[in-house]
Amino acid sequence: MTSIGLAVIGAGYWGPNLVRNAMATPELRLEWLCDLDEERARAVLGRYTTVRPTSSVEEVLNDPAVQAVAIATPARTHFDLVRAALDAGKHVLVEKPLTPTYEEGAKLVALAEERGRVLMLDHTFCYTPVVRRIRELIASGELGEVQFVDSVRINLGLVQPDVDVLWDLAPHDLSILDFVLPQGVTPIAVAAHSSDPIGAGRPCLAYLTLWLSSGAIAHVHVNWLSPTKIRTTVIGGSRRTIVWDDVNPAQRLSVYDRGVDLTSAGEDERRAALISYRTGDVVVPALPEREALRGVMSEFAAAIAEGRSPLTDGRSGLRVLALLEAAGRSIQNDGKRIDLGGTA
Ligand SMILES: NC(=O)c1ccc[n+]([C@@H]2O[C@H](COP(=O)([O-])OP(=O)(O)OC[C@H]3O[C@@H](n4cnc5c(N)ncnc54)[C@H](O)[C@@H]3O)[C@@H](O)[C@H]2O)c1
Repeated sequence: MTSIGLAVIGAGYWGPNLVRNAMATPELRLEWLCDLDEERARAVLGRYTTVRPTSSVEEVLNDPAVQAVAIATPARTHFDLVRAALDAGKHVLVEKPLTPTYEEGAKLVALAEERGRVLMLDHTFCYTPVVRRIRELIASGELGEVQFVDSVRINLGLVQPDVDVLWDLAPHDLSILDFVLPQGVTPIAVAAHSSDPIGAGRPCLAYLTLWLSSGAIAHVHVNWLSPTKIRTTVIGGSRRTIVWDDVNPAQRLSVYDRGVDLTSAGEDERRAALISYRTGDVVVPALPEREALRGVMSEFAAAIAEGRSPLTDGRSGLRVLALLEAAGRSIQNDGKRIDLGGTA
């Protein structure tokens, strides 16, 4: 199989990670690194490389040696860049969030389908061994029915110039949920609260509640202002409960056979209901340490080669946008519950 010619657009904070992982992926052949600031692109590439730096997106898109582009520029630029790349016949990997609005994202998804090109989201966490394992534990029924999800992603974060904390951090939690929830279980309503205690002009911390079609509730807390970094997700099931602590590599994932059961003794059910506590084993699955972006790049290359949708396709990006927009509407309405009406 011949390799796929790739250009990375954006050489800021995240772009160099795409460059490094593209270079380590044999199915991809990095041709260009493009940034408005060509010197930045040159500095990322270093001296000993055949990859060309440029500040011209046009030059990249006109190059027939480029079949695919990976876009790591700020969210506000995604719509124009992705559209131009698709119009030029390129396959596209784009950073989260897909676009700043659902409407724009939907146009891009339609355009990719019309052109028969791969449109993939870099929902990075979905390619981590830990999220893969969580997905398996849920799909195999080992957890039982998902009863609740509680996700905390807080640290001293970069206050972004163009997006609030929800649009910056919650795409991670929402794309993970989208990836791990059992088939047929989807969010049906959203409520969110946020605040901007430092006067940044946009929310710096937010609390998001999702009602799921199964009756379960998922909660996401994102915050740029926390002095300590907490990345913990608890997924409670009727049989087992998962605790994922992403800042503890020695015990990233724990599976607890511990929980609360309600048994009913018969006659007058309400009076005779018995609460029993299970205290079984805690299992810590062995997980490989593998950089998620390697998985992202391999999946992008495989989807192009096989002419199929990637695991995190444009539609998964759209489902995340639907939730983010609904959360924004809820914030504007003092935290009112917003029903999704089939958009997510
Ligand atoms: N998947 C993840 O875990 C993850 C982590 C961090 C950031 N991101 C995403 O990556 C994207 C970029 O974030 P960042 O923190 O690297 O931003 P950044 O501001 O550090 O870098 C963006 C770069 O893009 C360049 N650029 C802007 N417009 C351009 C254009 N039209 N053409 C060419 N270059 C252009 C800028 O010059 C800059 O160097 C965002 O969508 C962000 O959400 C994803």
